[in-house]
Amino acid sequence: MVNNDIMKVMETIIRKIDKNNIDKNVIQEAGNILKKGGLVAFPTETVYGLGANALDEKAAQKTYAAKGRPSDNPLIVHIADYEDLRRIAVKIPPETDALAVHFWPGPLTMIFWKSEAVPCGTTGGLDTVAVRMPADPVALEVIRSAGGFVSAPSANTSGRPSPTAAEHVVNDLDGKIDMVIDGGDVEIGVESTILDMTVSPPMILRPGAVTAEMFEEVIGPVEIDRTILKAESGIRPKAPGMKYRHYAPKARLLIVEGDIREEILAIRQIAYAAHRRKRKVGIIATQETLPFYNYGTVKNVGTRENEKTIARNLYRVLREFDKEDVQVIYSESFAMQGIGKAIMNRLEKAAGHQLIPASEIVKLQKYRRIIFVSGTDSARGPIAAELLRNQELEQEYVIDSRGMVALFPEPVNQKAEAVMRSVKLTLENHVSQQFEGEDLSEDTLVLTLEEAQKWKIKAENENIQNIYTLNEFAGDPTEIPNPYGKSLAAYGECRELLEKMIAAVAEKLNSLAGGEEQWEKYM
Ligand code: TXA
Ligand code: MG
Repeated sequence: MVNNDIMKVMETIIRKIDKNNIDKNVIQEAGNILKKGGLVAFPTETVYGLGANALDEKAAQKTYAAKGRPSDNPLIVHIADYEDLRRIAVKIPPETDALAVHFWPGPLTMIFWKSEAVPCGTTGGLDTVAVRMPADPVALEVIRSAGGFVSAPSANTSGRPSPTAAEHVVNDLDGKIDMVIDGGDVEIGVESTILDMTVSPPMILRPGAVTAEMFEEVIGPVEIDRTILKAESGIRPKAPGMKYRHYAPKARLLIVEGDIREEILAIRQIAYAAHRRKRKVGIIATQETLPFYNYGTVKNVGTRENEKTIARNLYRVLREFDKEDVQVIYSESFAMQGIGKAIMNRLEKAAGHQLIPASEIVKLQKYRRIIFVSGTDSARGPIAAELLRNQELEQEYVIDSRGMVALFPEPVNQKAEAVMRSVKLTLENHVSQQFEGEDLSEDTLVLTLEEAQKWKIKAENENIQNIYTLNEFAGDPTEIPNPYGKSLAAYGECRELLEKMIAAVAEKLNSLAGGEEQWEKYM
């Protein structure tokens, strides 16, 4: 964490407030500070804002200083009453009324030509002004008690994710601002939609919870700034703030894009590769995909059933990764409908537009699953599988064993367990399972313990392409005798032989893996 103490120039007052039972004293305290030109962070339904008197140029300068924000990046002026719009904006187009009726108070910022009342310090030198009427009741009260016009950028240090909880504001700005009002977690989690009303048709400069489709229902088609989703060199975004690499986590962030199955497979592979290189890995996953990842710190950003949950958690997750000092973060991508556009826009900016097609990674791996097939899945098969799991493998495999005849789930043969124990391994969690060939995909490698098993499976499952006997695949003609009914020593010899074979299998798999270098660019 950044140690703010050295830079601490004032004591920051922190006050908790209950949205449903607003303490007027806290509001008045905030209003007084704002009227005197001070800085107060307060909750809005999108993200926390860093409030200042919008009509006071000096207060705007303080805002830029506290955030460490370039002063050409204009602030949004927050109002609490629609009539107040006319004091700060001129040439307000007629569609504005309908938009305000539908979306104000709410997560919408509209840009108008500014009036004389608004100082250039607030608008970053522009002759337009961005205006928003937030819905959060605390925000509305704060604005009213400050005199009606409160400029508020997101209350984070410039370049960090926007704050969605008071704790985030304190982490970034403690000692640099007068007061933080803690109203709990925000509702939406990504900043307001910005709609430029000075052009016709109006143009979306930043996607948010109010979408193009929602505008269209009210005022007909709107345009969308082309730079919003893909960075195009040479084209400058129309909202000055959108050109900065905002929301940037400390770690390198890569977004993996494809269908969800491919995304999971790709992230599994690169997370495994990064883990092997001792990199601290983070994964942004969803409720539904969480169980598929075995390496790295995996965080649940929300459920795919409801993208609003993802918007709400995104910045918090990015902040948590910063604290945990992960070095590289892999993120799934999210649907582009509704608030999904805003989510992907913020995620892409955080990633510095580093997107990787999942298919590019998936095709680097020939086999993903390896199944050892023996007679009853109670000795040689499970031993082979466990030995392979303990090899240094360049790629991640799901390694299983199955039996030609395993009618009931049974534990492993006791002698098999004993000979594994003597090399500090165990099969105690193994239960035998019947081999089922039908649903095997082409990334599955089937290795049988005996020749006859291979032919039987081939005859019964035309779909299985990658099937070999274990010794064939290992390139070693030695037969692997069945120790069933024999002495412990026979089991011991069998294990030794399998150790040799499996080492050869691992070497072969690693030679198929295409070399270590191919992963470097994803680290
Ligand atoms: O949800 C929100 O909008 C939050 C809460 C606190 O209200 N505020 C917020 O402010 O996100 P900020 O300063 O972090 O982002 C404001 C964005 C910047 O990208 C800025 O460049 C753009 O709005 N902007 C402000 N005034 C503008 C103007 N006159 N013309 C074009 N873009 C403008
Ligand atoms: Mg911001």
